[in-house]
Amino acid sequence: MRVLVTGGAGYIGSHTVLQLLRERHEVLVYDNFSNSAPESLRRVKQLANADVALREGDIRDGAALGASFAEFQPEIVVHFAGLKAVGESTEKPLDYYSQNVSGSLELLRLMTQHGCKRIVFSSSATVYGDAHYLPIDESHVLQPTNPYGRTKHFIEEIIRDWSASVPGSCAVLLRYFNPVGADASGRIGEDPMGIPNNLFPYIAQVAVGRRPHLNIFGADYDTRDGTGERDYIHVEDLARAHFAAITYAAKSHGCEAINIGTGKSATVLEMVKAFEAASGRKIPYQIVDRRAGDVARMVADAGKAEALLGWKARLTIADMAATTWNWQINNPDGY
Ligand code: NAD
Ligand code: UD1
Repeated sequence: MRVLVTGGAGYIGSHTVLQLLRERHEVLVYDNFSNSAPESLRRVKQLANADVALREGDIRDGAALGASFAEFQPEIVVHFAGLKAVGESTEKPLDYYSQNVSGSLELLRLMTQHGCKRIVFSSSATVYGDAHYLPIDESHVLQPTNPYGRTKHFIEEIIRDWSASVPGSCAVLLRYFNPVGADASGRIGEDPMGIPNNLFPYIAQVAVGRRPHLNIFGADYDTRDGTGERDYIHVEDLARAHFAAITYAAKSHGCEAINIGTGKSATVLEMVKAFEAASGRKIPYQIVDRRAGDVARMVADAGKAEALLGWKARLTIADMAATTWNWQINNPDGY
């Protein structure tokens, strides 16, 4: 299929584009490079030995994005573009509403105008807010606790309404849990700007000597070892989930929200141990206060993804640690 990928130069986008090229889809990436560089796609092309069309622009720029629709005539859109830092979203909520919500509105408007009826959207487990029960399934109440999470929730609702108004349309809302890891080649991976907010890129930078130690945010949670427990999902499995979602959307109608996780969880200390085993290096850490807004445990019920998409995570915590380390050691300063 002809797949227009917004934000395709970013972390999850680049791994997904690689997967789509390997599955012989035709891809146009539309990205403003606000949090990525064209280098990721140059490497993706090398790895896949296939070409990707690339257009630079903001998703809110209707003229530029419309030109890409007119030129490429996509059959489906995979929509990654947007801002994603929880802390920043509390400081700059209007930026988040503009880029995420207004950007998605512009995208849907152009899809309607150009007769494109299928979309796969990057949502997040953050839409659930504090878990009322675990594992979380898709019918759990949606009560996000920060502006970033609310943009994801609002976009989900907007896409649902859009889909109901467009006969024959199909929308898949993928709610990712905690994506980590890198392509096995070590050529593409997560390259955060500044100090990483998330655990795994932070550990990787400690291992490679860019930061002195990890701060563990709380060891007094009600978990196996007191540290936070999460459902980490390998980015390669996540990329395969997008391929499965596209295949599903090609032959289905309606709007479905689907968790993308493993159904298993690991604590911060277990992730540190996995990284030490993969890298052969000691990860110094300090226990500090809990981070505001953090919860003790988050685990997906991943049953719907298997039932509807025929998709299931395959890779382990050891794979996540090994591929992250391979990426970090080969690219100590990122791209
Ligand atoms: P990323 O920042 O690496 O990728 C996002 C890409 O979108 C970047 O290439 C960026 O340059 C581009 N972009 C941002 N705003 C844009 C705009 N207005 N117009 C055009 N391009 C724009 O992030 P990622 O980790 O690959 O995440 C991709 C998507 O998945 C995001 O929507 C994010 O909210 C969602 N998500 C990510 C995670 C995670 O942990 N990484 C978890 C859940 C959901
Ligand atoms: C964060 C986001 C969430 C987003 C998800 C995607 C917050 C509050 N939530 O989730 O919206 O969907 O990323 O990946 O930012 N930790 C440390 N030290 C660190 C970093 C993290 O101990 O330096 C701990 C955290 O307390 C948590 C675990 O590691 O227990 C995972 O943290 P992180 O990678 O930031 O992910 P989440 O907080 O689960």
